[in-house]
Amino acid sequence: MADPQFVHDTFSAIASRYVLANHMLSLGADVLWRSRAVQIISEWHPSNLMDVATGTGDLALDICRELPEIRVLGLDFCEPMLAIARRRGLTRTLQADAMHMPLENASFDALTISFGLRNLPDYTAALLEFRRVLRPGGHLLVLDFSLPDGIARGPYRLYLHHILPHLAACLTGNHSAYAYLGRSIEQFPRGLAMMKLMRQAGFTNPTHLPLCGGIAAIYTAEAR
Ligand SMILES: C[S@@+](CC[C@H](N)C(=O)[O-])C[C@H]1O[C@@H](n2cnc3c(N)ncnc32)[C@H](O)[C@@H]1O
Repeated sequence: MADPQFVHDTFSAIASRYVLANHMLSLGADVLWRSRAVQIISEWHPSNLMDVATGTGDLALDICRELPEIRVLGLDFCEPMLAIARRRGLTRTLQADAMHMPLENASFDALTISFGLRNLPDYTAALLEFRRVLRPGGHLLVLDFSLPDGIARGPYRLYLHHILPHLAACLTGNHSAYAYLGRSIEQFPRGLAMMKLMRQAGFTNPTHLPLCGGIAAIYTAEAR
């Protein structure tokens, strides 16, 4: 599990290059993944939504743009990332720890977290905290990296652990942040394991949608 101080310092260090690095390292696929997430959210018709670990606000801003009827709050504990989100147009932001959010029980219709859950120190405790702030029947969407199944896994691991950190170091000047990315993806629960964690944290109807052959995935569930 991730060390919060390391995660905080890492994202503070790469904040100014984060958006560009993301798009280049995923060859633009992250844009498609977020677009799929927004499509799913549109079917829920929430009045309000919190994007946890919003970072530079990519998903929150897409939701604001595509679904302007939703009141969106972006939460993150890293001020340099949030400052960029605000500069890019995210008007409602909150600097806070996702593990202990200063928010009332049952106060949101929907909660999203993209490329964030993997960086939290305790997945079950985080999911319990997400369920706490969701109203009963509220929706959770998790978008994050995963590992492809079958023969693609070997070559993908080679890319993830031996090529990507060097490419990313050229873009961001930070090799350790992207060596950490590979490690965090390896130990992040996938597929059935993630759906089991969601059920244990009090969510029902978990779903799993692999993206781009399984290098990323969207999970959804409903708060009980
Ligand atoms: C990989 S970025 C994802 C940003 C954005 N959601 C996206 O899709 O690009 C992970 C974000 O999680 C935030 N984060 C990590 N641990 C956190 C915590 N305990 N509380 C709040 N934010 C956290 C980091 O500051 C960082 O902005």
